[in-house]
Amino acid sequence: MTQSSAKARQPTLSTVSLMPGFASLIEDLDLANASESELEAFDDVCRTTPVVVLRHQKLTPPQMMAISGRLGKVSVQNRVGSHPDFPGITILSNKKVDGKMIGVHEHGRRWHTDGTTYKTLGLTTMLYGIECPPEGADTLIADAAAAFAELPEARQRELQQVKVVHNRAHLMQKYGRTQKLGFTPEEIEAMKDVIHPVVVRSPIDGRNSFFLTNGSTKSVVGMEQDAGFALVEELINHVTQDKFTYRHKWQAGDVLIWNDMCSMHLASWFDDTKYDRVVYRTWMRPFEAAQVTSTAEAALAHH
Ligand SMILES: [Fe+2]
Repeated sequence: MTQSSAKARQPTLSTVSLMPGFASLIEDLDLANASESELEAFDDVCRTTPVVVLRHQKLTPPQMMAISGRLGKVSVQNRVGSHPDFPGITILSNKKVDGKMIGVHEHGRRWHTDGTTYKTLGLTTMLYGIECPPEGADTLIADAAAAFAELPEARQRELQQVKVVHNRAHLMQKYGRTQKLGFTPEEIEAMKDVIHPVVVRSPIDGRNSFFLTNGSTKSVVGMEQDAGFALVEELINHVTQDKFTYRHKWQAGDVLIWNDMCSMHLASWFDDTKYDRVVYRTWMRPFEAAQVTSTAEAALAHH
């Protein structure tokens, strides 16, 4: 059997465009019970589409881990909100059990990109909705490649020269999480600066894409701090315009997957006095990335 004939037999999944060139819905695929060839087709869609949505899924934690593991190496997040039995899964929730929060709440309410403090870049995020408020709690994802493509060529060339210093300790100090998350001074010290360009190549389609975030941005190379922050803010405002944004309105059973190298995202507000939200998240590093379970790498990962 030739490779092409094997490929020809691969099932074609039915997809609906939610935002051209950026977000697609896969219809009629039950991830928990899919055949290997259906899952290979699913992998292909995820590799070639920045944002992928599936509805009406029913996944156990091991099933979510298995699906996530197809898309990259699951990064274990043992610091905050991790699932008690599956530390690769982070629980995003406002719920309390026995007076104790079961997960992470109120994170990611500003536009941001995750995984900016990895030395070797690359991150895929998967969310699985279990309890979803009927209003609010939308996830917004902006197309950072389309935003770059829209700029005049001269401006593009200029911005391709810009580099940002990211630092995880800076981010945590900024949001007062250093003590809350229980990092030791040695761990903080180990969080070294990393420098990344603001324009990177999208692993999805090779296009140039903005790679921006506020939280971990410590400075822009060669600029005064205020001027650097103003530039980053200006670019984030450009990327996150409505015309570049896909807004996901959650239903229980939804799966939402995106690539952090060509997008920015935001978790919108919901009334947590009225509604409960439980969403599972996994973060996947490229298969070729460094070992992900080391303390140093895990410490670097979060927002
Ligand atoms: Fe995030």
